Amino acid sequence: MNLGNSSLIRSVILIFCFGYVQNRRKIKTNNTNLISDPNSDIYLDSLQLLAKYGYNPQRHSVVTGDGYVVDLYRIPRNGPPVLLVHGIADSSDSWLVLGPENSLAYQLADLGYDVWLYNTRGNKYSKAHVRNIPANKYWNFTYEEMGTQDLPAVIDYILSVRSLGKLYYVGFSQGTTIFFIMCSLRPEYNDKVKHAVMLAPIALINNIKYPFIDILTKNLHLLVPLFNNLGIYDVYANNHLLNLYHAKVCRDGVPEKVHLVENVEFIRRKLPNVAGYIVFNKSLDFTHLEFIYGSRAKKFVNNPVVNIINNDYYAGLEAV
Ligand SMILES: *[C@@H]1O[C@H](CO)[C@@H](O)[C@H](O)[C@H]1NC(C)=O
Ligand SMILES: *[C@@H]1O[C@H](CO)[C@@H](O)[C@H](O)[C@H]1NC(C)=O
Ligand SMILES: *[C@@H]1O[C@H](CO)[C@@H](O)[C@H](O)[C@H]1NC(C)=O
Repeated sequence: MNLGNSSLIRSVILIFCFGYVQNRRKIKTNNTNLISDPNSDIYLDSLQLLAKYGYNPQRHSVVTGDGYVVDLYRIPRNGPPVLLVHGIADSSDSWLVLGPENSLAYQLADLGYDVWLYNTRGNKYSKAHVRNIPANKYWNFTYEEMGTQDLPAVIDYILSVRSLGKLYYVGFSQGTTIFFIMCSLRPEYNDKVKHAVMLAPIALINNIKYPFIDILTKNLHLLVPLFNNLGIYDVYANNHLLNLYHAKVCRDGVPEKVHLVENVEFIRRKLPNVAGYIVFNKSLDFTHLEFIYGSRAKKFVNNPVVNIINNDYYAGLEAV
């Protein structure tokens, strides 16, 4: 992996030790109000959540070089723009579900940062294309297009709305993978990112051991033709089965080895300009999804991210 020659982008890698989750954490609710109230957070999409908590969101649709239409949700503020990019099979909801007290999007907006929540092509909020193309053509993309088409289009869009030259970037998991792809294959975009925070970075997926995902990756040669024949392209559709899967993965504390400290070390060695990096204490037993959905996310992930961006921003102001 080559991140280009630019030393301007300084990547901070926050990593954590994936351990087996010994004390299976139960995430259950006995709160029947949550279920019976139609305005309960559990039924709301990103825009509805933002509106409910008084953040007056904007919706922006961006057309990529190859005609995909991807949605960005913005909490408009006058401060520096921060682009938040979610993980696999997820969406902008990632940065909101813990609520205004605990989720990163709100924390940054409350400090005056102009927050942009991106939705990758094909996710539940970004399913459009400028042409009426058949499903087999629409779904014929990989991480490469997400990194070489979507991210550059989105970054250019934000910078043009703000008439600025740079933004901050925070990616989680797949949101780091596509960032690495962008910086490698469209190296001129290194200069458009002031500072990137990579949460649980993943560059290679050959070591992933995760329920369902590892079965998918090992059997792709069989599954792709099968799914094509069945006309199934959207394997992460927002459906009941996927919800059950997520609930199971969350609730049962599935032993998780999405990537290991050694894998992140490998990425770090390949990057020319890492400004700092954090390894979580193994005894925390932090799992991949906890980064976004865990009750400890604010303390161990979001607050450090906010500090990194604040420190960079205010150091830059002092230098002027
Ligand atoms: C839910 O109810 C069960 C049985 O009434 C109780 O044992 C459990 O502690 C409750 N859980 C929560 C999170 O309140
Ligand atoms: C998918 O894209 C590849 C490479 O861009 C191309 O070779 C292939 O024909 C495409 N398949 C479909 C069904 O469009
Ligand atoms: C990790 O946490 C354990 C338990 O809290 C503590 O004993 C240990 O010193 C910590 N290790 C490091 C490197 O901070």
